[in-house]
Amino acid sequence: MKRRTFIQNSTIAGLGVTVLGKDEPKKSSPFKSNNGKLKVGVIGTGLRGQGHADLIWRRDDCDLVAICDISQRMIDRTKAICEKHGKKLPTIYQSGPHAYKEMLEQEDLDAVIIATPWRWHVPMAIEAMEQGVYVGMEVSGAASVDECWQLVRTSERTGSHLYFLENVCFRRDVMAILAMVREGLFGEMMHLECGYQHDLRGVKFNDGETAYNSGAEFGEKGYSEARWRTQHSVTRNGDLYPTHGIGPVAQYTDLNRGNRMLFLTSMATKSRGLHEYIVNHPKGGPDHPNATVDFKLGDKVTTMVKTVNGETIVLHHDTNLPRPYSLGFRVQGTKGLWMKVRDGIHIEGLSKSHRWEDSKTYLDKYDHPLWKRYEQRAIGAGHGGMDFFLMHSFIEHAKRGETPPFDVYDAASWMAITPLSEQSIAMGSAPVYFPDFTDGKWIDRKNTFAHGDEY
Ligand SMILES: NC(=O)c1ccc[n+]([C@@H]2O[C@H](COP(=O)([O-])OP(=O)(O)OC[C@H]3O[C@@H](n4cnc5c(N)ncnc54)[C@H](O)[C@@H]3O)[C@@H](O)[C@H]2O)c1
Repeated sequence: MKRRTFIQNSTIAGLGVTVLGKDEPKKSSPFKSNNGKLKVGVIGTGLRGQGHADLIWRRDDCDLVAICDISQRMIDRTKAICEKHGKKLPTIYQSGPHAYKEMLEQEDLDAVIIATPWRWHVPMAIEAMEQGVYVGMEVSGAASVDECWQLVRTSERTGSHLYFLENVCFRRDVMAILAMVREGLFGEMMHLECGYQHDLRGVKFNDGETAYNSGAEFGEKGYSEARWRTQHSVTRNGDLYPTHGIGPVAQYTDLNRGNRMLFLTSMATKSRGLHEYIVNHPKGGPDHPNATVDFKLGDKVTTMVKTVNGETIVLHHDTNLPRPYSLGFRVQGTKGLWMKVRDGIHIEGLSKSHRWEDSKTYLDKYDHPLWKRYEQRAIGAGHGGMDFFLMHSFIEHAKRGETPPFDVYDAASWMAITPLSEQSIAMGSAPVYFPDFTDGKWIDRKNTFAHGDEY
């Protein structure tokens, strides 16, 4: 039996806690080793995993002791980041797609971050939870509802925590709006909109040496996400990436904490964007082999969710058409609304009747204490600094073995939007009901996210 499993079992036995079945996760990461430093591993050191590694190496309260990937190029890029920080090279696991099991077996990790392609998230998270490691799992939609249940049941049985790494919950304006929602400025929540609207037709980036663009290629010949993500557009038709939208909205409406998603209905347009991109790309053309691919994913997928407390939530998924990036937030209550697309705010009694106001005044006034406190440390972190807040929160929760703000129940229900929206579309937009992954615990659970200014 591994040390961590032993500590976990003896602690649970000592507390007389029943872990089978319906109990919430109680603990993981006793965090007793390594001179008070959290021992962290990263599985998947692609573009996202490298960002996480960089943030870990900036800290002095944790050590990145092991990394795992199957791509030599990505490992080399990660090693270069390590050298830049002057840190000790982590042990590298790269013997194949299941090398992560070796890593979890051999390293006595306190915490692990999973930043691999979507299909790997759940098996890797389950394996890590079985080992008693505090898990940070990157965001995605689920492949099936059953997969979501597996996450929940494993966490409940092992007592291991799963932190669902939804960084947009930490976006500065998103958090200021949360403060306004909690002060009641918008009144009672009524209708919310959100989504993932990001032109992903080509993965373009520059690593300092080479500018990459997957162009008309995906799969084996693609780079980074184009190697695996585009394939989902070939085979699936649903909201493939719901969490950047539903994560913040879940905080505004207390989902899984006094409220929950009841059912959804989903509709998709026809699919044109990827085909036209391939046909018109200089490296593609009508004779390119990928010009014959029959993409299943509708270019615009619209999903509407009804909550138990009576709010409606619209989720937009829009990744294969030309468009500027936007998560398209709208937060509307009985007394006013905030809309990101229009970038306006209107509060009854404060704003001129029927007039938008510039939201900046409000966003400055309600700037979250966390942002005021850590603004300087967040400089240079990804996605406008919010990735610092996510990593900081993950590490601090893992150090204490605390329940994360976005936990296994959130992961399961947010990820379930994907298979449920696929089902709804396949059945002519029929309503599809959400399972209650909390088994009724949502009634009493409290929203703990960002109530203080510590982490
Ligand atoms: N929250 C955010 O803002 C954000 C941003 C980008 C990506 N992501 C998420 O992060 C994840 C990774 O995305 P990415 O852009 O880094 O993709 P990527 O393709 O650049 O990285 C994935 C890495 O996983 C590796 N990998 C694949 N199978 C593996 C296995 N079996 N074992 C170990 N390594 C394996 C690949 O070689 C690659 O290096 C995805 O879930 C994506 O949705 C989140």
